[in-house]
Amino acid sequence: TKAPVITIDGPSGSGKGTIAKLLADKLGFALLDSGALYRLTALAALNADVDLADEARLADIAGNLDIQFAVANNEVSALLGGKDVSRDIRMERVSMAASKVAAIPAVRDALLQRQRDFRALPGLVADGRDMGTTVFPDAPVKIFLTASAEERARRRYDQLQGRGVSVSLRDLLEDIRARDDRDMNRAASPLAPAEDALVLDSTSIDINGVLQKVLELVHQRI
Ligand code: C5P
Repeated sequence: TKAPVITIDGPSGSGKGTIAKLLADKLGFALLDSGALYRLTALAALNADVDLADEARLADIAGNLDIQFAVANNEVSALLGGKDVSRDIRMERVSMAASKVAAIPAVRDALLQRQRDFRALPGLVADGRDMGTTVFPDAPVKIFLTASAEERARRRYDQLQGRGVSVSLRDLLEDIRARDDRDMNRAASPLAPAEDALVLDSTSIDINGVLQKVLELVHQRI
């Protein structure tokens, strides 16, 4: 029998990464941050000066990514060609490029099997945009986590401020809206809840509240 998968989809800043990590820790499951794969593809393309409109080359890059995920001190780091790029892939220009390359069907196809390969016993928590719809349609637990764009921009702002990065809240909100728009309106695996997903809004419930609801479902279904 196949290992159980818990899918957590939603827009950027909804808290899905945090919830996914807490769940994986709590259940002893493996974790797939699928957005990191798109970010790594984008970074590799930017590093190689590849035109973000060159779909064939981008798909080739995605299919041949030399990546590893390493866990140290309870933090997951991403390595590209052996180099730790965990910070680089979170830069705003990489985020924007990632959402562009993610709209290319050939790039998504190139990353599909790699994502499915993360499925292993005792289970997997996978976060992204299309985990429940396309990558793991048979997952027993599917969550779609949202929050208002304003709230998500504010969280990102606080996070960056905390790291000493100065940014404008308005710019962040604009970036978030642009990415939401691209993620929701693309033809290939657009951001949308699976029919059988539990939709939760983290604008009003805190992380613990969200975690409790997800755990209830996990105990019913797995
Ligand atoms: O989740 P994160 O913000 O790190 O994802 C980076 C980008 O990758 C997103 O803006 C989205 O366009 C894309 N993505 C995707 N499908 C996924 C995960 C991420 O299209 N499953």
